[in-house]
Amino acid sequence: MKYKFISDNHIHSSNSFDAKDSVIMLADRAFNLGLYSVTITDHCDCDVYYKNDLRSSIEGSIRDTLKARGLYSNRLKIYSGIELGQPTQDLDAAQEALSLGNYDFVLGSLHNLRNEQDFYYLNYTAENTGSLLERYFDEMMELIEYGKFDSLAHLTYPFRYLVSNPELKITPKDYSQQIDEVLEAIIKKDIALEVNTSGLRQPIGKTLPDEDVIRRYRELGGKYVTMGSDAHRWGDVGAGIEDGLNMLLKCGFTHFTVYRRREPVMLPIL
Ligand SMILES: [Fe+2]
Repeated sequence: MKYKFISDNHIHSSNSFDAKDSVIMLADRAFNLGLYSVTITDHCDCDVYYKNDLRSSIEGSIRDTLKARGLYSNRLKIYSGIELGQPTQDLDAAQEALSLGNYDFVLGSLHNLRNEQDFYYLNYTAENTGSLLERYFDEMMELIEYGKFDSLAHLTYPFRYLVSNPELKITPKDYSQQIDEVLEAIIKKDIALEVNTSGLRQPIGKTLPDEDVIRRYRELGGKYVTMGSDAHRWGDVGAGIEDGLNMLLKCGFTHFTVYRRREPVMLPIL
């Protein structure tokens, strides 16, 4: 490991509907890999918060995280976070979720458009993809306008699934104007940009967002970048973080950011 501070700030535990491993197992893996810190960020998709009783999942996540923090006190820093999905689709749910704990870190994300399924489940055709992406960037701007989160998770998320239709030749470059608007808006609000390394272990083979977008963020004056594997299982904790840090260096960054008590802490990459 060539980096001193390897930190994974997007990890799901068994308190997320799509993950199975306990916080202790995740922490154990991080400790064995020699990570500096981790943040547990279980799902809180606000549009289904009441329907799926996410309050009890989030309370469980906070409880398990605090317990693990005590157990690993001198060995690994364990921060308490949440992945707040679609907060603008149910503002009351978002408010309640944010009041459940003293989070270190809040990720803001957009997994599905209003009244649509997660982008993961959609079929992408030449007819529907343009309009889905227009709506994606519109809702993304709404999310940033809402703004009660620290870092914007996996920008360009739908592109992770567009690759399922090889006939579509649409890339983030085709949406550079919308991406610039998103980057300018987060910079203005001091919201960080996440480098989500999950794409490196999926068919898209790139971080979300990709290197061009990270470079552009820096050109526009962006300072805060958070790193996350988006691990949904023990074996993926820390996956791709070093590749992500290499990429940040290439883009001219000297530091990345970890959030503690919702305040940015700048850590040197080297
Ligand atoms: Fe997510």
